[in-house]
Formats: sequence, structure tokens, C-alpha cells
Amino acid sequence: MKTALLTGSTGGLGREVSQILAQEGWNLILVNRDKEQADQQIASLTKLFPNQAFNGYTADLMDIEDVQKTAESIGVAHPRITALYNIAGLLTDKRILSPQNIEGHFALNALAPYMLIKALRPRLKAAATPNNPAFIVSFSTSAVNSVKTLDTSKLVDPDTIGGLMDAYAKTKAVLNIMACFLKDELFAENIYIYSLDPGATKTQMTDSNQGMPWFVRLLVPFLFGDAAKQAQKLVDGVDLAVQSKQTGVFISNGKIKDNPPLANDTGIQNRVRTLMDSLIENSDAKEQTV
Ligand SMILES: NC(=O)c1ccc[n+]([C@@H]2O[C@H](COP(=O)([O-])OP(=O)(O)OC[C@H]3O[C@@H](n4cnc5c(N)ncnc54)[C@H](OP(=O)(O)O)[C@@H]3O)[C@@H](O)[C@H]2O)c1
Repeated sequence: MKTALLTGSTGGLGREVSQILAQEGWNLILVNRDKEQADQQIASLTKLFPNQAFNGYTADLMDIEDVQKTAESIGVAHPRITALYNIAGLLTDKRILSPQNIEGHFALNALAPYMLIKALRPRLKAAATPNNPAFIVSFSTSAVNSVKTLDTSKLVDPDTIGGLMDAYAKTKAVLNIMACFLKDELFAENIYIYSLDPGATKTQMTDSNQGMPWFVRLLVPFLFGDAAKQAQKLVDGVDLAVQSKQTGVFISNGKIKDNPPLANDTGIQNRVRTLMDSLIENSDAKEQTV
């Protein structure tokens, strides 16, 4: 039986994707910050699918140390992981700082997925074969198409936050960039990687007034899809990409698309990678001196 890890499984899309994967027979590792909600979700999944394993981990994924510790515990308990879904995300127009003073969108939307990929790569490799690859899906957004350039020196402490089309879109673009710079080395280990736009969906994120421009908010009741339908579309899109042996692509609203040009810029790729590696190294060094 295959195992998938999902972050943000108690959210609008995360909950639906968990349900679909459970129905398909996957064992699930669910990483959330709200233990009570996660425990309820696990109890309900266990009742419906008593022969599958559902394991919960509690973590604030904005906190580098929490991500690191949680990934270590998961790695010890789960020798093989076939799929990693980075779903947890933040959209706000307020400045939120992580415990390490990293801007919240960057910490949660980009750095946490990168850390989980790095830490769990050996577990994904252990589950993967050429005919049955492991895969990573990081939830991006169509708003990345509006990001034409990226000043990586401003990711940790941006001048403006600006919600959907600013810090949110830029930090989600990092996921597309990451898929592009990691795809070849992961492919050598039979691991595929995707960035994914679930399509406009009604969830607590889009129902809240945080970070959504007023004109987009007006469209929510008319143009935003039902979470269960969008989740099925995205899972089908991932299946299609895996079956057709494609990696590094952008799965948008269930269809396989090219990444925005920015994601293929090797200068930006190198700067993003160096930045994220140095943040992780600094945090490791600090932990060792405590
Ligand atoms: N809905 C859309 O139209 C849309 C469009 C494009 C992309 N996306 C992306 O799709 C993903 C899922 O979004 P959604 O619409 O389902 O939003 P949602 O309902 O707000 O779910 C977000 C999830 O992230 C979790 N989360 C937030 N901060 C966290 C933290 N510090 N540590 C751990 N978990 C945290 C939330 O947990 P809590 O419940 O504890 O807050 C929740 O489970 C996000 O990455 C989003 O950016 C959504």
C-alpha cells in the first residue's frame, strides 16, 4: 500500500484531496497545525477506511525548527513515501513574521515545501522505481503568471506584502522555480516534481477578505469552483502527468502547462536555491549551539 504525505489537510482543498487519496487506497501522513481538527479528520478517515493507516503530525510550518523536527520524526517512522503534497499556504495583505523573522508567505509557501522535499527525499527515493515513480506536488497559483521578475534579496523581508498579486504570487513562483531546478536531479532518483495551480476554488482562504483584491472577491460566488470538484480535477491532472512520465511541468486547473518563463531563468534558480539553503544551514547551526 502506498503512502502520501499532505500538509494543510484540514483546509478546503487539503481535506478533499485527502478524501480522494484515501478512497484510492493510499495510507496518509497528515501534517497540520491544528491538532484538534486533524485528530477529527483522522478519526473520520479511519472509520471510513479501517484497513488503511492515517498518521497525524502537528507542526507550525512557518517555523523552520518545527518543520525540521517534524520531517525528522516522519522520516524515522515512514521509510517509504510515494507522494508529497505541499498544500498548506498563506494569503494575506498583512505582514506576518515567522519565529525566525522570515516573512510569512515566504516561510510557509516556499521554504517549508523546500525543507520537506530536502528532508524527505531519501524516503521518496526509497519508494520509487522507474515504473512507479514517487512524486512531489506543491500548490502554486495562476497568479504566478503575473510575476515577471523576482528580486530574491527581498523574499525574506519584502518592502510590501500586497496579498494575491505581490508577496503571495512571488512566493508561489518560487515553487515553480524549484520544480524547474530540481526536476533533473530528482528524475535520476525516479522522483517527479510538479507545481500545481488548483484553479480558483471556494475555500476558507478565498472566503476570507485577507489579501484578495476587491474585484477578485466579487467574482468568488460566480467563478470559483467547488473544492471537491477542483480537488478531483487536480488529482486527475497529477495522475495524467505521472502516467505520461512528465516532470517539472505546471499542472494548472487539471491541465499540463509550461512554467512561466521566470521559472526557467537559471540565474534566479541559483539565487533562490542559495538563499533557501543558507536559511536552513543557519537554522541548523543555531540549533547545534543552543
Ligand atoms: N482556493 C483557491 O482558489 C486557491 C487558488 C490557487 C492556489 N491555492 C493554494 O491551494 C492551497 C490550499 O488552499 P485552500 O484554498 O484550501 O486554503 P485553506 O482552506 O485556507 O487551507 C490552507 C491550509 O494551510 C494550513 N496552514 C496555514 N498556515 C499554516 C501553518 N503556519 N502551518 C501549518 N499549516 C498551515 C491551514 O491550516 P489552518 O486551518 O490551521 O489555518 C489549512 O489547512 C494553498 O497553498 C493555496 O495557496 C488555492
